Amino acid sequence: MLNTRLEVELNKQLNAELYSAYLYLSMSAYLASKNLSGFSNWMKVQFEEEQFHALKLYNYIIDRGGKVTLTAIEAPKTEWNDILDVFEDVLAHEEKVTGLINELVNVSMEEKDHATVSILQWFVTEQVEEEATVSDLLDQLKLVEGKGSGLFILDREAKQRVFTPPAE
Ligand code: FEO
Repeated sequence: MLNTRLEVELNKQLNAELYSAYLYLSMSAYLASKNLSGFSNWMKVQFEEEQFHALKLYNYIIDRGGKVTLTAIEAPKTEWNDILDVFEDVLAHEEKVTGLINELVNVSMEEKDHATVSILQWFVTEQVEEEATVSDLLDQLKLVEGKGSGLFILDREAKQRVFTPPAE
């Protein structure tokens, strides 16, 4: 059974993952409005990944006899300056989420809840991959200064991304 402190903190993280999904869907819409259909697709896959993260926490809270409490999801930004601005925001956001996950691990350790520490290790590993992927893409976008034929090629590559559920 989850203790109350962890139930509250895990529900907060569930909300944070849903906000991430919402933010990336908003970015997908912005990119579509700029005729970057490949990056819009890439961001939609990101949206699906975040829903997967949210559901993983949702299932875990219930499996441990806790109660899921859904709360309001903050409205995301809807406008950016350009694609570089979008990806700078993605990286900053993922770094923030990594901080939240690490703090949650600290709380789970304080509460000596080994099962929660264990499931959070999955998120710790996932964050390393997320930050690395976004950082690589941002570097490539900077190389082409977010425009021209370089951007055209990167957008075409981004169109290939499909959602595959991360390994459990
Ligand atoms: Fe659910 Fe992108 O962290």
